[in-house]
Formats: sequence, C-alpha cells, structure tokens
Amino acid sequence: MVHETILVVGGAGYIGSHTVKYLLEKGYNIIVYDSLVNGHEELIDQSAKFYKGCLSDEIMLEKVFSENKIDAVIDFAGFIEAGESMKRPLMFFENNVGNCIKLLRIMLKFNVNKIIFSSTAAVYGVPKKVPITEDDEKKPINYYGETKLMFEQVLNAARTEGLKSIKLRYFNAAGAWYNIGEWHNPETHLIPLVINTALGLRESIKIFGVDYDTKDGTCVRDYVHVVDLAKAHELALRGLLNGIEGEFNVGTGKGYSVKEVIDTVKRVTGKDFKIEISERREGDPAILVASPEKFFKTFGWMPEKDLNEIVSSAWSWHKTQLETFKKK
Ligand code: UFG
Repeated sequence: MVHETILVVGGAGYIGSHTVKYLLEKGYNIIVYDSLVNGHEELIDQSAKFYKGCLSDEIMLEKVFSENKIDAVIDFAGFIEAGESMKRPLMFFENNVGNCIKLLRIMLKFNVNKIIFSSTAAVYGVPKKVPITEDDEKKPINYYGETKLMFEQVLNAARTEGLKSIKLRYFNAAGAWYNIGEWHNPETHLIPLVINTALGLRESIKIFGVDYDTKDGTCVRDYVHVVDLAKAHELALRGLLNGIEGEFNVGTGKGYSVKEVIDTVKRVTGKDFKIEISERREGDPAILVASPEKFFKTFGWMPEKDLNEIVSSAWSWHKTQLETFKKK
C-alpha cells in the first residue's frame, strides 16, 4: 500500500477524474483542485479531498499547499481544443503557460518539486514521419500545441531551480471507465460526436476533410483508452517518485482514420446514420501516431484496450447517460 499524497490539478476533467479513481484504487491520498469551468463536480471521487479554485488563484493554491503535505503534483488543468486556440490564443497562453508557472512557483515555495504534466501530440505539428518519436521535430500548427510545448520548455528550465518533471504527450484519449465518459461542453471530439449521432441526438456526423494524404483521405489518429492512460499516469508517477524524468509519448502505435472510426461505431452499435463531407478543420495534421517505445521500455506499460473496446465502452456510457436523462 502506498501512502503518498498527490495533488491532482484539473482532477474533475475527463482524463483527470479517471486517473484520480485509478490512483485511489492504488492507495494514494488524493487532493483534487479544479475550477469546475470545464470539469464536473460529479466526476470527483468521494474519497478525494476537493478544493474548488482556478489555477490563477494564488491565494487558494497557497491554502492547498499549506494545509496538506503534498509529495507530487499531476497537472491536467488547461484548455484543450486546438480549434478554439486558433480563435482565442491569449486565453490559451495565459492559462496553459502563465497560470501553470504560478503553480510551479507555489510548489517550489512549499518544497514540492515533482510534477507530471499533461502534454500533447499537438507539440509535433505535422510530423515528417510516423510513428512519432519523442526527439522528432516539434513545430506545432495550432496555439494549443504551442502553449503545451512552451510549458514543457518552462519545466526543463525550472530544473535549475530543483524541479523534476515527467511530460506525458497524449495522443487521442477516448472511451469510458468507472461510469465516467467523455463529457466536454461543447463537445468537439470525434468519438463522442459519432456516438451521439448513432444515438440519434445529431442528424449527421461531419468528416472534416477527405483530401488528406492518408489511406482513405481522412485524418488518422492514435486512440488510447482513458483507463490505459490512467494506468500510464500511475506508472509515470512511481517513476518520478523514484527519480525518473523526461518526456514520453503515450499512444498505442496504431492509427485509425476518421472513416474507420465511423465504421467501427456503426459496427459496434448496429446503427446507421448520415455522414457529411465537410471542409478541413483549421489546425488538423493529417496523421498523428505515436511510437510508444520509450514509454513501454521505461515503464513496462502496454495499452490493453483497442478501438473496439474504446467505442463499446463509450457507447454504453452514452446510452446510460441518455436513459438517465430521459427518466429525469
Ligand atoms: N473530426 C471530424 N469530425 C468531427 C470531429 C472531429 O472529422 O466532428 C476529425 C478531426 O478533424 C480530426 C479527428 O477527427 O482529424 C480527431 O479529432 P478530435 O477533435 O477528436 O481530436 P484531435 O486530434 O483534434 O485532438 C485531440 C485532443 C487534443 C490532443 C490531440 C492529440 O483534443 O487535446 O488529440 O492527438 F492534443
């Protein structure tokens, strides 16, 4: 049984709340800090201690650190929509870089020097080769990726002040576990949108671009089940507590096109629905597939769930949500 106390910033979000549940199962003491702007209070496990606050609220953050003996921080807080970042770059830089720097300053003030940071495949931009390895060129094509890359650099610079970090570059998180599913507002992610279409909540699903240089002309992504991602955080956390640092891709190494995802949803759900071909979405690279080799080798992690399981777990969760909503 482990006894470390972990502060999970952004722990009421989709990946954060799954990771909180998984860490609690493993015996960690968990403190969740979340503004609930994008997170949901219902997703926070009752066994976690919860503070409601923004990352910009230094007084509240200092209160959290002064009231608790924290061993390490996992930082999930941040804006995540690549498309939105192209419209509101200042908001992205302010939150994903500026406010995260405040968090680091307060951590160091309270002698907490270990952090796992949620980074992204978007730091690579349009990769020159796939699968992508960690030392490949990083040239983001949206401000979201830019902010995450910039904060990775901040973390590297802060080593001279004693900070130790692991940056996890997620590929496309999807699926549902622990009765928690993907719940963004507004929803922009492919899998929940296709599932909502299969449920009849939307008239059609739009494919953003069919003229990419890929197997069927649609974008290819590496979908990783959210519970595999939660496990990846626990392994990285153990590693960090034992002195490992660095940046790691967290993906499966397998890519699926938008059309393949839609076909999988049709097959798994047994539902047919309308597809519309639409313009490309700004800021979308054609292919993002991870080489997860470094993470495999360092931490012995292997993703256990494939696209079928991602889709079927998301399908059951969305169906249950709809049934519960209808009963209300
Ligand atoms: N797509 C559609 N139609 C839709 C929604 C999405 O065709 O209605 C396409 C997108 O153009 C893209 C693919 O489906 O090609 C996946 O799009 P998502 O919005 O689901 O995910 P992204 O790849 O844009 O981004 C996600 C996360 C980021 C993370 C990135 C890493 O939102 O935070 O994965 O690969 F950085």
